[in-house]
Amino acid sequence: MTRFTVNNQPVHYKMDPDTPLLWALRDASNLTGTKYGCGTGACGACTVDIDGEAVRSCQRTIAAVEGSFVTTIEGLSRERTHPAQMALIAGNVVQCGFCIPGIVMAASVLLKKNRNPSEDDIRAGITNLCRCGIYPRLIEAILLAAS
Ligand code: FES
Repeated sequence: MTRFTVNNQPVHYKMDPDTPLLWALRDASNLTGTKYGCGTGACGACTVDIDGEAVRSCQRTIAAVEGSFVTTIEGLSRERTHPAQMALIAGNVVQCGFCIPGIVMAASVLLKKNRNPSEDDIRAGITNLCRCGIYPRLIEAILLAAS
């Protein structure tokens, strides 16, 4: 049995320890805000916060997060809309929206570590892919969220 915390709630998954965290979150916890895009670690749609780091959850087994604190998009925005989310709304950034939860998770970690990121910091910190090509508006929005 694998034990860790998801959105401040203890979880005990009775699953194969090699199960990717992404599937435990989606299938066992019904936290479907964490998206499946590529399953190879490339797109970032599955990004969650694990102990303060932005992690692609399709690339992390549940065994590997034993004892960790995991935050998903649902946990991040449970009590209030995160400043990164408000900036994306204000900047009219979102198109299809599929990649946005992962981008918000990456942005939240970036802004927690660096309250005043440069454009280069944002490009380095948010490596998620977006097929709609929102990147210019996204960078503007994160700069706004940081100001
Ligand atoms: Fe995990 Fe694409 S689904 S990086």
